[in-house]
Amino acid sequence: LRTRVAIVGAGPAGLLLSHLLHRDGIESIVIDNRSRDEIESTIRAGILEQGTVDLLVASGASERVLVDGHRHEGIDLHFDDAAHRIDLTELTGRAVWLYPQHEVLRDLLARRSADGGEVRFGWSATAVRDADSATPVVVGTDADGAPFEITADVLVGADGSRSVVRKAINGTDAPGYFREYPFAWLGILCEAPPSAPELIYSASDEGFALISQRSETVQRMYLQCDPELDHTTMSDAEIWDGLQRRVGGTRLIEGRIFQRDVLRFRSFVARGLSRGNVFLLGDAAHTVPPTGAKGMNLAVADVVLLHAALREQAAGGGRGLLDGYAAAASERIWRAQHFSWWMTSMLHATPEESAFDRQRRFGELRSVAGSRAGSTFLAEAYTGWPLTFTL
Ligand code: DHB
Repeated sequence: LRTRVAIVGAGPAGLLLSHLLHRDGIESIVIDNRSRDEIESTIRAGILEQGTVDLLVASGASERVLVDGHRHEGIDLHFDDAAHRIDLTELTGRAVWLYPQHEVLRDLLARRSADGGEVRFGWSATAVRDADSATPVVVGTDADGAPFEITADVLVGADGSRSVVRKAINGTDAPGYFREYPFAWLGILCEAPPSAPELIYSASDEGFALISQRSETVQRMYLQCDPELDHTTMSDAEIWDGLQRRVGGTRLIEGRIFQRDVLRFRSFVARGLSRGNVFLLGDAAHTVPPTGAKGMNLAVADVVLLHAALREQAAGGGRGLLDGYAAAASERIWRAQHFSWWMTSMLHATPEESAFDRQRRFGELRSVAGSRAGSTFLAEAYTGWPLTFTL
């Protein structure tokens, strides 16, 4: 096969890029080793930055986000047995939207289908050839197990944290910048109405908890746990007890728990984000720990940059923006890395935390919540730094 832009990975980054390119008349093929059903049912985070929502709506990728999503103008930081509201909108003029990532994926897939986009499910990329040539090639096996080759002017790795394309850019033994944390989250979905109007991020003596939401009838909650926890060993009663004790003062409305998963905490940035005509986007380029929900929003910011560069090149503007992609993307990536690390470190005790570090951590929480400047710093990052896109 031959195409202008070959995109490996039909997650938010790959699908959004192919949608934006289509609007400019630039043809692409997206492949993914998963089925459409698997992609649409993968449970990930639920918070969209203002800029992400603006782009989804303005580009025609989703109108549903404004109908089925919920605008949140604040979050609660819970510590010292009290809620400390951060008024995001008053501090920044912006808000965030609660709209789960799988809903974004459903919207993008529906849009790509309606526009006749080529998205091939069950196609596994196994290697990249000619990464340094003008026309890189991705090879693998299709949904029937037969070999395929796609030759493109530009090859995009939007294939997640275990990216195949990343190897072609960095080689197998250059892991990049990496950090692991000695804790994880046990995430649950339950059938219950919301327990609070806004999200609660709680740092308590028992550990961290996050009370998030999905809809009027389904809630998402997280509980700090050991990364090696076998979640099948915990009873529902133990989970509820753990959550309740971490958010003293708020009574959580309990309901049937129908999904559990353990989320590991990692920070990662690939050493190289591009090589010639091969580019990395989203989780293939970087991973953030979940606190603050930057993962998908950062992927969208990568897409905005790469889209602008490809659009400029297609319009005869040369490859200046393409060659500048890695440096431009790095800037926001490292700000988001800092923010995600900071929120994580401020809200979680490590198993070996000293008495001094614990007191210092609560001092930091009081500084942030008690200072307009501190709260504004958090609110600017949480709602997302400005995202300038051209459509
Ligand atoms: C959710 C996840 C997060 O990591 C976060 O910071 C906020 C919300 C969620 O899944 O709802």
